[in-house]
Amino acid sequence: MCGIVGYVGPRDSQAILIAGLSRLEYRGYDSAGIAVIDEGGHLGMRKRAGKLTVLRDDLSAHPMSDGTTGIGHTRWATHGGPTDANAHPHLADDDKLAVIHNGIVENYAALKAELVSEGHTFRSETDTEVAAVLLGREYEANGGALVAAFRATVARLEGAFTLLAVHEDHPGLVVGARRNSPLVIGLGEGENFLGSDVAAFVEHTRSALAIGQDEIVAITPEGVTVTDFTGHPVEVEPFEVTWDASAAEKGGWSSFMAKEVSEEPEAVANTLRGRIRDGVVAIPELDGLDDLFREVSRIVIIAAGTAAYAGMVGKYALETWARVPVDVDLAHEFHYRDPVIGPDTLVISISQSGETMDTLMAVKYARERGAKTLSICNTQGATIPRESDAIVYTHAGPEVAVASTKAFVAQIAAQYLLALHIALVRGKLSRTEVAQHLLELEAIPEKIQHILDTEQEHIEQFAHWMADTRSVLFLGRHVGYPIALEGALKLKEISYIHAEGFAAGELKHGPIALIEPGQPVFVIVPSPREAPVMHSKVVSNIREIHARGARVIAIAEEGDAAVLPISDEVLRVPLAGAMFEPLLAVVPLHIFAMGLATAKGLDVDQPRNLAKSVTVE
Ligand code: F6R
Repeated sequence: MCGIVGYVGPRDSQAILIAGLSRLEYRGYDSAGIAVIDEGGHLGMRKRAGKLTVLRDDLSAHPMSDGTTGIGHTRWATHGGPTDANAHPHLADDDKLAVIHNGIVENYAALKAELVSEGHTFRSETDTEVAAVLLGREYEANGGALVAAFRATVARLEGAFTLLAVHEDHPGLVVGARRNSPLVIGLGEGENFLGSDVAAFVEHTRSALAIGQDEIVAITPEGVTVTDFTGHPVEVEPFEVTWDASAAEKGGWSSFMAKEVSEEPEAVANTLRGRIRDGVVAIPELDGLDDLFREVSRIVIIAAGTAAYAGMVGKYALETWARVPVDVDLAHEFHYRDPVIGPDTLVISISQSGETMDTLMAVKYARERGAKTLSICNTQGATIPRESDAIVYTHAGPEVAVASTKAFVAQIAAQYLLALHIALVRGKLSRTEVAQHLLELEAIPEKIQHILDTEQEHIEQFAHWMADTRSVLFLGRHVGYPIALEGALKLKEISYIHAEGFAAGELKHGPIALIEPGQPVFVIVPSPREAPVMHSKVVSNIREIHARGARVIAIAEEGDAAVLPISDEVLRVPLAGAMFEPLLAVVPLHIFAMGLATAKGLDVDQPRNLAKSVTVE
């Protein structure tokens, strides 16, 4: 949430900041703003409520003098509504110091009262302005030393924050600090960058440094200094960004979501690539963990939203193949209910962004309780993998649309690799069985591609016809159940339609009361060959709703004729083993949600009220 970018170097900064913000806009689009120290050494600032384009238009209509040092921000509102006044940057009293912020300053009310009692005044309702005014006060108290002022300021702040500041008396310097909120450094030639994530600067440099918790960074054109909050220099971890700027561009696609759905085959293929050798899983990041996998008595998967649904799918694979008991917990529920965990528990976190605050806090909590932590993450240099004992990266590439799609299938693929590896280590599957499952997994990208090639147009057309629908239900069993939940989440998230997912067996325990003539219900139908018992149970469930007038849309394997007389629409997926069905069945649901939102004329990439990478609890 909230995108942050900083620049120092020889080039004019405005275009660099705006381009960086446009790559970070998925983090929040309530308002945007920049502050630049111009050639004359004067701090200029412009900020506007609304999407970045409002700020961009304003700057074209009323240009601001440019300069080579600047910061920029795109906001997801927490304290104070999305107004011009509440947009970032915020200024200290004398208008010479500008601050941008991501996170929440939890003790802002007490700090504000203290500052007001000293005669300071405020122009917004935000917690950020409190940090700006406090920094201004500390700047004076520290004789104009910006880094020292930062140290004094962060010592007073509670909560989570990334703060960046520029002061007009220090052209060529951007100072930042982070606690539980993301910030990375981009290293250029004679120029340096700061960003909430590497997308902020990847078009200029792929050479990056990950800043640790509770650290302060100062960038100048010549170099970078990182210290802890007490001023001691710290080592920073360099990494090379594995994708280039074009990977985070829309290309010819109508939306990022359309591009990312089209990349689902590639996301799975890239997550598997190089990790299967001679019929076994070969993930170097897992080296040295086999004793843990052998001895662990329980696994807890923690995540939020779509990532949690991927985790629910992973539970079936881990339990079926590796025979380890698995619980799946929403990270925010796990953390605050005193869960029973300890050194015999492996806690697997799943996060596309690697920054989700709920998940991060749950990982830290699990470690404090002595559990071993493994992170499945899509973003290099992110906080959650850095806070975990082990990492398995998904290689889905940058995901820009707020609604997660390609990361979801990659998260399932990564868990399947992990589950098959643990199964072999624990002696629960033979090498032959593992090899067979891996062959199935490797065939998935092609099968997803087949769905995109043969069904996408049809599903989009169908979604168009359904544009006036006010409520859609989703049913699934076994691994189809989390897919029903994911289908419902995606639809409500981007099309603002009421949607709910249920376990098909649960229907008769209450939800069937929702069925009335014409009610659309998507049903994920298990394979009749691979899961005949479940197939017949789901067919019975369809009969029950069909008899009550539901409009049934079945997602069924090619050749499954049983669904034909009881379905109004059948969306076909290729044949696959029962455990692999989610990787296929979810694709029509992603296409459907996108098609319906598009038919309603909505922005599928930036749905209302949401932001990607939720860095507040
Ligand atoms: C839904 C969606 C969210 C995220 C959730 C976790 O489409 O994108 O539900 O899945 O906020 O995000 P990450 O995976 O970044 O931790």
